[in-house]
Amino acid sequence: MIRPDFDLPRARRETRGCEQQIHFNNAGASLPPVPVADALYGYLYDEEVYGGYEVMARRSAELDNFYAASARLLNCSADEIAFTDSATRGWNSAFYAFNFQPGDRVLAGSAEYGSNLVAMLHQAKRQGVEIVWVPDDASGQIDIRALENLVDARVKLICLTQIPSGGGLVHPAAAVGKVAKSAKIPYLLDACQLLGQRPLDVEEVGCDLLCGTGRKFLRGPRGTGLLYVRKTLLEQLEPHQLNHHAAELLSVERYQLRMDAKRFESWERSYAGQLALGVAIDYALGWGLEAIGERIRLIADNLRQKLSGIDGITVADQGPDLCGIVTFYAAQLPADQLQHQLALRHINTSTVPFSANPISSQQSRHPALLRASLHYYNTIEEIERFAIELKQLL
Ligand SMILES: Cc1ncc(COP(=O)(O)O)c(C=O)c1O
Repeated sequence: MIRPDFDLPRARRETRGCEQQIHFNNAGASLPPVPVADALYGYLYDEEVYGGYEVMARRSAELDNFYAASARLLNCSADEIAFTDSATRGWNSAFYAFNFQPGDRVLAGSAEYGSNLVAMLHQAKRQGVEIVWVPDDASGQIDIRALENLVDARVKLICLTQIPSGGGLVHPAAAVGKVAKSAKIPYLLDACQLLGQRPLDVEEVGCDLLCGTGRKFLRGPRGTGLLYVRKTLLEQLEPHQLNHHAAELLSVERYQLRMDAKRFESWERSYAGQLALGVAIDYALGWGLEAIGERIRLIADNLRQKLSGIDGITVADQGPDLCGIVTFYAAQLPADQLQHQLALRHINTSTVPFSANPISSQQSRHPALLRASLHYYNTIEEIERFAIELKQLL
């Protein structure tokens, strides 16, 4: 049952884009809500009229709200947050800050994002780091026993992508956090597909580093993201690249690294994006991440049920805990053609490329998948229309 107290009319009223099409590509980029879009346009207008540096000075409190809002979202302190231009930038900044030595090991889960894998292979090639893939259990989630057994003195980092780019499965990030904590190994969480979709408390999860992006379930602008760095790790992690924002220049010969997570930032950035991401986070917190998560789960289950009833369609998502990302394939038409045909009918979906989650893709026997990713502003009526269009197409 869909909760009657979820104010769906308001959610749709405040989402201008949902009048144009059925947007089931929230795992790609969500439709930003009106307050976020207006904050972005308003700030850009101010830059046009008053000048970028002048607006930055005048609206510094609103810009700073990004850090406070992120801290509220993750239950951390504002000085543990860095603004980034993407999840990838955040993840790379964290990963490349480790001073890996030949023979060091990184343990990682099967959902790891393709870009993270490229960086791991790069460090394996340059530094002699060994990447060890932790197997999944029979349910599809990361096997916690296997993870425990892989922990030894060689392991310098544990990585987990909590929700794969191309699948509905949610990995038990807190269980991984317990293993990392008891072994005293730093834990880097890619929460890119989770932030804005479900609550995430870094104390409960036990991660030391976390990256997220603005444009997906947080409904922020493109070109924005965040990196969380636990205070106790901050001092030990020296960014791979420095600049005069990350470190204060004391003389022509000396610099001093910042003590907060801003040591992972650049000075230049989209200030409009930063401000609007802060608005997006507050907007999500206003709805409540529990309520958002519950609604997404309900409508995604509804979609999976409807898809299972269509001849020729196989739903690919598996696992005890599924989210708003729904993946499937049809016997009659390949995923890219399906996506194209749906787009002609004003329904946005995406395909799942190999680079989305290469390790699990390699292990899977499915043909290419189509991804329909739902947010709370999507409706049962949209799901019904989606199912009708699919039936007609097939
Ligand atoms: C799980 C996951 N991690 C990281 C990323 C990269 O995000 P960004 O494009 O903001 O760097 C994505 C993007 O799809 C993703 O799905």
